[in-house]
Amino acid sequence: MLGNKITIIGGSGGIGQVFAKLFKNHGFEITLVARNQEKLKKVAKSLDVLFQTDLKESVADADIVMVTIPIETTPNMIEYVAPYMKKDALIFDVTSLKEKVYQSLKKVQKTYPINSVSLHPMFGPGIQKFQNYVMIMLKVGGTKSYDRKMQSLKKLFESEGLIIRVVLDPSYHDKIMALVLGVPHMFNILFIDLLRNAQIPLSELTKFTGTTFLLQKVFAESIIQREVHMFGEIQMNNSEFHKILDSFHKLLTEYRNIIKNNHMNKFETIFSDGIEYSSKDSHFKRSYNYFYDFMKILKEKKYEEKPDL
Ligand SMILES: NC(=O)c1ccc[n+]([C@@H]2O[C@H](COP(=O)([O-])OP(=O)(O)OC[C@H]3O[C@@H](n4cnc5c(N)ncnc54)[C@H](OP(=O)(O)O)[C@@H]3O)[C@@H](O)[C@H]2O)c1
Repeated sequence: MLGNKITIIGGSGGIGQVFAKLFKNHGFEITLVARNQEKLKKVAKSLDVLFQTDLKESVADADIVMVTIPIETTPNMIEYVAPYMKKDALIFDVTSLKEKVYQSLKKVQKTYPINSVSLHPMFGPGIQKFQNYVMIMLKVGGTKSYDRKMQSLKKLFESEGLIIRVVLDPSYHDKIMALVLGVPHMFNILFIDLLRNAQIPLSELTKFTGTTFLLQKVFAESIIQREVHMFGEIQMNNSEFHKILDSFHKLLTEYRNIIKNNHMNKFETIFSDGIEYSSKDSHFKRSYNYFYDFMKILKEKKYEEKPDL
């Protein structure tokens, strides 16, 4: 139903390589496309797949075209390659924001006899096993075979252990992403920045850390080393995140007021409101145990420096 040829535009990148391996394991013939030929050849060789330097040619014979390039350039790429795709083929992106890319996928699907869907893997290039990781699927539309293609694609991913969450609305997707990506990214980026501003080396701070700081530091360090451009796009190009920033600004002003004026009752209210909100979450009861499970990994690896004698 899905055919067996997939062209991955941006195939030499992190996510492109993850999907190249996945589709290869399912018997697909893979063709990678990117601009930097040297890197492209190297990656294609290491994965033992094909590569192509001409964009139009690369999609002409493909049953599936995957676009995995930066968020901002994805809509134009979709509109550029769609006219050269064969009848009934499928095109999908994997961008972290959907508002603009959805419009392009809808446009090409209405103009040409092809199928469009938009995917969002909720994992990065470091993933080793897909079991229980989430991938969001935003259906767009297509030819008579659309529903059957979607079922086959979903089944293929589910056979890897991925959990597929179907959403129907790009703006709902972006609203959720402002909270589940933008907010934790922002806190971790600012966490490191706040420490840096105090002008005490992180190694010195780490010597004195027990639990919370150590775990928070690991999260922040793992974020700060990643794809800076993509992290910027996720926050800058999402209008929903801009609203969150305004509300955060207001919250921080109130919080500052509570702390500086010793308003313990208001401080307690933040805790009780937070508990009421999060107690409905399925992890809530075990969160403190999970916290120590994570700590166990860090402590077993002797992550902390030994204290000075
Ligand atoms: N990384 C993540 O954690 C993650 C998670 C979920 C979704 N995503 C999404 O996945 C997409 C790719 O992210 P990534 O982290 O894999 O990025 P990446 O590692 O920087 O890879 C980007 C790839 O696109 C190619 N490329 C860039 N512009 C191109 C163009 N105009 N024409 C053809 N190829 C082009 C790059 O190679 P050349 O520069 O040689 O062309 C490279 O192969 C983004 O849309 C991102 O939102 C990423």
